[in-house]
Amino acid sequence: MAVQISPSILSADFARLADEVAAVPNADWLHVDVMDNHFVPNLTLGLPIVEALLKAAALPIDCHLMITDPDRWAPAYAEVGAGSVTIHAEASSAPVRTLREIRSLGARAGLALNPATAVEPYDDLIGEIDMLLLMTVEPGFGGQKFLDMVLPKIRRARGLIERHGGEVWLQVDGGVSADTIERCAEAGADVFVAGSAVYGADDREAAVASLRSLAEG
Ligand code: DX5
Ligand code: ZN
Repeated sequence: MAVQISPSILSADFARLADEVAAVPNADWLHVDVMDNHFVPNLTLGLPIVEALLKAAALPIDCHLMITDPDRWAPAYAEVGAGSVTIHAEASSAPVRTLREIRSLGARAGLALNPATAVEPYDDLIGEIDMLLLMTVEPGFGGQKFLDMVLPKIRRARGLIERHGGEVWLQVDGGVSADTIERCAEAGADVFVAGSAVYGADDREAAVASLRSLAEG
């Protein structure tokens, strides 16, 4: 279970995205939050900016789609070259088809669950995904407080993943910082999204390195 760090550009300076991306060369992924102002009460960016980032970034892109119609849009993000595309279970009406489509287009397929969504009903989908994303805040904004109540679910999700062979990555997103990352790692997460904890730091590269060493324990 190798630790991976995925800085979220939601907390970066959107006017200087190329520089902000270059500031985290020691990260594993670049987490890009696509929000449509319907699934979540916030609006960020879409396909054209993801395409621009793909050209500007040396890191692979981890696209987190917080949109009402992921079945319609997710394949397009895989098609342009995102390394990973994650859809929300609460928003998808045909997750099996969409996840298979993402994979067939060469991207890793991710399934995201909000804090109040139980993981057990998705046990049968674990064979269809490469990553399970557990939200540790309500989706929509950076800089929110980590929800401790999700920790038991992280543990249970790790158990389900192990029963399926242990190949699926377990990502946590929201309020992940030097104060909370160890608890997440202990509970079984292995991919850590961090927005404000990285882009709110003066030295972004040092922030990534210290999160990684805390997660590695
Ligand atoms: C929130 C987004 C997160 C956000 C996390 O809905 O999915 O990726 O950027 O920000 P922090 O790490 O500041 O909580
Ligand atoms: Zn996210």
